Amino acid sequence: MMEETVYNQEDLFKMLDSLLREPEGFWTDFYKDRDRDIPFFKNVPDENLVSYHINGILKPGKALELGCGPGRNALYLAKNGWEVDAVDLSTTSLQWAEERAVENGLHINFIHNNIFNLEIAEGAYDFVYDSGCFHHIAPHRRLSYTNVINKALKTGGHIGLTTFCPGGKFGGAVISDWEVYRLGSLQGGLGYDKARLERIFSCYEPVEIRNMIDQDNTSEVFGLSDLMAALFKKL
Ligand SMILES: C[S@@+](CC[C@H](N)C(=O)[O-])C[C@H]1O[C@@H](n2cnc3c(N)ncnc32)[C@H](O)[C@@H]1O
Repeated sequence: MMEETVYNQEDLFKMLDSLLREPEGFWTDFYKDRDRDIPFFKNVPDENLVSYHINGILKPGKALELGCGPGRNALYLAKNGWEVDAVDLSTTSLQWAEERAVENGLHINFIHNNIFNLEIAEGAYDFVYDSGCFHHIAPHRRLSYTNVINKALKTGGHIGLTTFCPGGKFGGAVISDWEVYRLGSLQGGLGYDKARLERIFSCYEPVEIRNMIDQDNTSEVFGLSDLMAALFKKL
């Protein structure tokens, strides 16, 4: 049995992790049935990501995707000239993503790891993207999360993310960080509004923070207005 004594910060984090759902098993099971009606199972990129590209805010370089799932955004970036490292802790999603990359003749460096265990070279990336991973990160890991981004990004680089907004149709718990531990659950994902995102990412310059734009079933991009899309620049 693991020794239940807190000697350092990582022991403390592990204790708090143990009060919440273990993510790796959950996300590995999540992708076992690819036919489930899950909005982000369709292989189309986020509309905001496409808009950053079309509007010339982002120019191809080196990208890191956190929690890439079956890879729809990593594929879009690779198709548009980016060199992409894409990380997820679920083997089932990475297998699916790799199959999609092969079908499309694309090379993406998929990495099976927890984002908190990544070895990242300082300032190695022009762009870090996260679609739907951040809202599943427990509050006690939030500072480590922003440290990962800060380490990964070069000066002038961008971080883009989509998250549940508070009380959204698909998730977005409106609970305090303390309540997460009283309940022993993130309630399916935390909700973040513009003010909260600006505060969490206050060391960056906000470029655009808005709701995603809803898309219908026939669209070649993904968008749900119950999600926030935020882009920040590292100064
Ligand atoms: C809602 S899914 C989104 C998947 C993908 N970004 C998309 O939009 O299609 C969140 C993903 O984050 C991954 N994830 C959650 N916590 C993670 C962590 N600590 N490290 C790596 N991946 C993580 C999950 O395995 C899951 O694939």
